[in-house]
Amino acid sequence: MSAREGLKQLIFRATASTAGRRMLESAIRHDPSLAFESLGPIVNRPASFDTAPDQPERIEGFESLSFLFSSNPLNWGIALLMFDEASYLYGLARKLGQARGAEIGRWKGGSTFVLAAGLAPGSLLTSYDLHVKLTGEFDGKQLDASLQAALTRYGLADRVELLVGDSRIVEPPTMLDFVLIDGDHSYEGVKADYLHWRSALRPGGNLLFHDGAAPKPLQTCHPEVEQLVREITRDDGALFTRVGGAGSIVHFVKRSDGDGYAA
Ligand SMILES: C[S@@+](CC[C@H](N)C(=O)[O-])C[C@H]1O[C@@H](n2cnc3c(N)ncnc32)[C@H](O)[C@@H]1O
Repeated sequence: MSAREGLKQLIFRATASTAGRRMLESAIRHDPSLAFESLGPIVNRPASFDTAPDQPERIEGFESLSFLFSSNPLNWGIALLMFDEASYLYGLARKLGQARGAEIGRWKGGSTFVLAAGLAPGSLLTSYDLHVKLTGEFDGKQLDASLQAALTRYGLADRVELLVGDSRIVEPPTMLDFVLIDGDHSYEGVKADYLHWRSALRPGGNLLFHDGAAPKPLQTCHPEVEQLVREITRDDGALFTRVGGAGSIVHFVKRSDGDGYAA
């Protein structure tokens, strides 16, 4: 057995115990690509047409094929979204056609771009970001300039409005078809967004939370967003029906009889 193959076997066995997981951590630091190559078969064991989760009833477009693919936090691109999450957002935007929506938290604008590409011409997506630095190396102004240039290059600029502001205190537009909440992930932050934005949706409008559930391994999920999502599902059933989601995205629809909340 080659040294590489031996290390691979070791990593495979290491996942069973705490001590093993510690060993695994040092293996990952030593050779990340080898470690993840070895973990792949464990993580992707359910990947077959017989067993893969989230297989759709109908194929409605490319976005219905996302159950075939995988992505994880180590191979994120511009969007802080996994493949199935991006395709879910794109599919929703496409179904909505000409629509008016808002996004809270855009960072580099990956989710902004996915939504804009899915929406029909004549739509308007208002994106809010506070330019909180996620890592030291990115500057919000520069990220927005790059995003704006890309939107212009691809003919999407007229359907997107990039605003800098605190989502908890800006004046939300009204009668929105959708709101995607992916900003402050603390319990207080995400709850403030929920309370401030839920009345901005029209009856039948779509409320989406990113990082609100973790159905798959290597999924990013924020426990405090998950907590709020559980509370809405449990306590606010008269106002919102949980209809689905993908990856860590949780999707509620505003009940047509649940309008007019106190903000
Ligand atoms: C997880 S990132 C968004 C990722 C993006 N939606 C994507 O899919 O690529 C969270 C963003 O929320 C922004 N943010 C945090 N608190 C905010 C607030 N109170 N108002 C507006 N934006 C906020 C941060 O500046 C950051 O860019």
